Amino acid sequence: MLQELMTVVDQKQLAPKIFEMRLTGDLVKEMHIPGQFLHILVPQADLLLRRPISIAEIVPERNECSIIYRIEGAGTEKLSLLKGGDSLDVMGPLGNGFSLETVEKGQTAYIIGGGIGVPPLYELSKQLVKKGVEVKHIFGFATKDVIFYEKEFSKLGDIHLATDDGSKGKHGHVGHLLDTLQEKPDVVYACGSRGLLMAVENRYENQNAFLSLEARMACGMGACYACVCPKKSDPTGQASFKVCDEGPVFKVGEVVL
Ligand SMILES: Cc1cc2nc3c(=O)[nH]c(=O)nc-3n(C[C@H](O)[C@H](O)[C@H](O)COP(=O)(O)OP(=O)(O)OC[C@H]3O[C@@H](n4cnc5c(N)ncnc54)[C@H](O)[C@@H]3O)c2cc1C
Ligand code: FES
Repeated sequence: MLQELMTVVDQKQLAPKIFEMRLTGDLVKEMHIPGQFLHILVPQADLLLRRPISIAEIVPERNECSIIYRIEGAGTEKLSLLKGGDSLDVMGPLGNGFSLETVEKGQTAYIIGGGIGVPPLYELSKQLVKKGVEVKHIFGFATKDVIFYEKEFSKLGDIHLATDDGSKGKHGHVGHLLDTLQEKPDVVYACGSRGLLMAVENRYENQNAFLSLEARMACGMGACYACVCPKKSDPTGQASFKVCDEGPVFKVGEVVL
């Protein structure tokens, strides 16, 4: 785990409250695995805890990475005000990320995401396509105005959309979309709300499926136990995983959602 004052290359608003920030620095050389996250110190004295944000894209040839985030509170609001040339204290890359080992060239992957769970799936999709895997994206958003990266994902493979209000794609949530798809994927990757992860778990239990979880974090590196979630294998509910360093990606059925 490393830490660096990275430099903001630029920042772009993708949708209401949703921003894409590109960063450059030596830390990019450490970034290889999709689904890992950066632990970012917001440049504001009263915000002491770092904010975990997933790596959305790694571009080694330009020594850049990007993050996509939604303004939720004071930290992300402050991040949205940064401009090209500003510095940002970044720790990472952290977490285990998505494994590409369990899928072969020519096989099919379902990439399932909801809302602000979609960003880490972009680097994942790019790496799968590079490996020769056929990808299908199945995404849910609240409404059409907050959809982002539709064109970027479409270049990599099919995209199926659902919106809660029916303003684009299927009316309803991702589970409804999954029920309309016929084939059996070789691997499934998902990132989004607990509801979305449960919909995926219900449909792909005992299969080659991976879920990326969110949890409130403090240290981000396994020392404080702020981010634990219960292990499914322990009926007493005592045993737990730390989402920051044993996750955020888990095999389906490993954690109690
Ligand atoms: C592994 C991981 C990856 C994430 N990736 C992304 C991403 O790519 N894009 C994105 O928009 N968001 C992502 N999040 C959620 C993001 O961390 C929170 O939205 C952010 O920390 C909110 O900070 P804030 O100061 O704006 O909000 P506040 O609500 O003011 O934050 C107060 C405190 O709560 C923590 N917190 C609040 N919401 C969350 C949350 N959902 N998860 C964890 N901690 C939270 C903050 O870190 C902070 O310490 C991710 C979370 C995790 C755990
Ligand atoms: S955030 Fe400290 S152990 Fe996970």
